[in-house]
Amino acid sequence: MSKKFKAMRGTHDLLPEESLLWRRIETAFVDICRRYGYGEVRVPIFEATELFERGTGFATDVVQKEMYTFPDKKGRSLSLRPEGTPSVIRAYLEHGLSRKSKVSKFHYMGPMFRYDKPGAGRYRQFHQVGIEVIGTPSPQADVEVITLLWEYLRGINLKDVGMRVNTLGCKNCRERYSALVKEFLEGKLGDLCEDCHDRFNRNPLRVLDCKVASCKEAIGDAPAIDAVLDEECIAHFDEVQQYLKVAGVDFYVDKKLVRGLDYYTRTVFEVFHSATGVDSSLGGGGRYDELVQELGGPSTPAVGFSAGLERIVLALKAEAAHADEAASMDVYVASIADESYQYAFALAGELRKSLRVWLEFESRRPQKQLASASKMGAAYTAVIGEDEVKKNTVVFKHMESGEQAEVGRDEALSWLKNRLGGE
Ligand code: HAM
Repeated sequence: MSKKFKAMRGTHDLLPEESLLWRRIETAFVDICRRYGYGEVRVPIFEATELFERGTGFATDVVQKEMYTFPDKKGRSLSLRPEGTPSVIRAYLEHGLSRKSKVSKFHYMGPMFRYDKPGAGRYRQFHQVGIEVIGTPSPQADVEVITLLWEYLRGINLKDVGMRVNTLGCKNCRERYSALVKEFLEGKLGDLCEDCHDRFNRNPLRVLDCKVASCKEAIGDAPAIDAVLDEECIAHFDEVQQYLKVAGVDFYVDKKLVRGLDYYTRTVFEVFHSATGVDSSLGGGGRYDELVQELGGPSTPAVGFSAGLERIVLALKAEAAHADEAASMDVYVASIADESYQYAFALAGELRKSLRVWLEFESRRPQKQLASASKMGAAYTAVIGEDEVKKNTVVFKHMESGEQAEVGRDEALSWLKNRLGGE
């Protein structure tokens, strides 16, 4: 027996029924981004491994454990992108986009790859939508980014979402905080999981983000960042919170929120949903004022977020907030005799210029075709037999009421459009 192929673990196929829902939430994302003045960028799916080592951060779990890395035929090390932010910054620098405008605002979407442990809402190939605002240190940019994410999720009808925000302070505050947390953790090493021992050495702040129960308990009374925040960082975070309230974003401050990537400075945030839980965010992001420089550019502040489409779909389904997206047809063209197929074929071609039309690849008995038409939820069936060809007409049957009307061939399109418009 020949081998049966299956999608690789942690990947999934998107079949027509579900892809309509995906299309809707992707379109809603593009729409809201355009309303806020963002332009789309599309960046490659693989890049030099070093881009992610320097960008995402050499010490992160993503780079240490989860990247799909391979040599190309010339021995260069490449990686499938685990996230979009480093690629967007590379493109920004490579194309000198800072010369075009002081502040650049981009949106993007596409597949990302992480060798994660597959589970509910956790895949190895998953899909993100995201935005990046590059070139401004203003807290108002943080507010816009968070508000856009919030409004996006509300706009696609998700209700049960929560938003938590925090500040990690600027580079200096963050370094001081990291030292403080390290000192605190020294006495708790025995309670930490193996990964956290590693994190303790690589980046102690990441221990605050560990999901293991014993680690969560051990860090229960870890020092909060407030002790080391300078005045500017405090003022920045205050303004972010003040305007988020004005914008109507329902958020709370979570002092333990540090995020899984290393580039963040100052504001960080995550949205979550009861279907996936606080530990499995729908989306997240923050400010990253050092990254552009880290990737070879001039010192340039930036802020952004990404959200995972698989998790958004899970949440929509849990809320039953996804209206059943009908794949239905406007009209099913049924040729019921071999002699009428060519006539039906030409009619379908004409109707398809503006309507959703189904045409079988051969003539079949009327009952069979009417059954197929009603199964796919077609509004009308156009029945074409030898009589209609002779008279140059079309018989339209309204599938719900069963009413029939014979219409001249030349009027068929306008007649149908009128009827459909009125439904
Ligand atoms: P992230 O938190 O690593 O941030 O990922 C953002 C979102 O991607 C998560 O909230 C989640 O919805 C989704 N995601 C991550 N891993 C998986 C997975 N294995 N399976 C399914 N979904 C997943 C970033 O990627 C940053 N680039 C966000 C950002 C943009 N920060 C600044 N700008």
